[in-house]
Amino acid sequence: MSESTDRAAAERNRAAAYWDRPAPVAKLARWWAWPRIVAHQNGLICGEPLPAWGAGLVREIGRRWPGRRFRRAVSVGCGNGAKELELLRSGLVQHFDLYEISEARIRHGRKLHDRAGLSDRVTWHTHDGVAAMELGARYDLVTWDNGLHHMPDTARAVAASVTALRPGGVFLMNDYVGPNHFQWSPRTLAYATAVRHRLPEILLRDPADPARRLPVTFTRPDRGAMIALDPSEAATSEAILPAIRQHFPDASIWMLGGAIYHLALNDVLANLDPARDGPLLESLLLLDLALAELGENQYAACLACVP
Ligand SMILES: C[S@@+](CC[C@H](N)C(=O)[O-])C[C@H]1O[C@@H](n2cnc3c(N)ncnc32)[C@H](O)[C@@H]1O
Repeated sequence: MSESTDRAAAERNRAAAYWDRPAPVAKLARWWAWPRIVAHQNGLICGEPLPAWGAGLVREIGRRWPGRRFRRAVSVGCGNGAKELELLRSGLVQHFDLYEISEARIRHGRKLHDRAGLSDRVTWHTHDGVAAMELGARYDLVTWDNGLHHMPDTARAVAASVTALRPGGVFLMNDYVGPNHFQWSPRTLAYATAVRHRLPEILLRDPADPARRLPVTFTRPDRGAMIALDPSEAATSEAILPAIRQHFPDASIWMLGGAIYHLALNDVLANLDPARDGPLLESLLLLDLALAELGENQYAACLACVP
């Protein structure tokens, strides 16, 4: 093996070890566990604030290709495959090839699919999904749902998606597309900090240790420490949108913001009481939207089709 292949394998093993661990924080501390924030994203995609994960893109598929079903699909970095399971359950997809490097997540995923009676419609793989896609046009649908930004070379992964699609096949992405290794811009840091400084004390308790207060001033995360923890985290995320625009000039791309709901509200969300803090959350989502219109976008969704 060459030095660079050795390094890639070592980084993949380190990322797999990270993703094998149980989640270190309460699920509600993260935006994706909040139906209202998922509905905000879906509203930006399809115009309707649908609370279910992925529902905005599914609605758009139905509008563009009424009645369309996908016989064979692939998803890389699928975690436990719970999102793909919903696409199988709805009948949109007949069969999924699922690629994931964390054995623990695959074990969990197998249980979920067994329980749903759908295990005969998935094939799990632990080897490199991008290299597998480069083998040729075998799929009607390639989906990336927060797995693309974990690929070491996202431009290669987008190109491989094109290779993997049969004529007329669909590319679907819903992913983090912000700065590599979360190296936020001064403007992002300033807005996230300004929001934190205005939050009531009760929302600033650290959910991992209630005796501690969450930081109110943001700085860029230490790049080296991030890479040591999980080298796959946002390694080349900035290259995703340029690669999509290059390979799919007619792609529909929706910019989904995130400076507030992903950064400023990270961990804070665990303290939010929907009944008490609903109006605050609405105002902050409005701020997120305004910032998205100014170019502060950490997330994006995309639908595209090969000729
Ligand atoms: C943010 S999680 C997303 C999981 C899932 N798609 C979801 O949205 O729930 C990223 C996943 O990518 C996986 N991953 C990281 N590098 C990978 C690689 N080279 N090949 C396949 N999966 C990878 C991780 O193990 C992790 O499960």
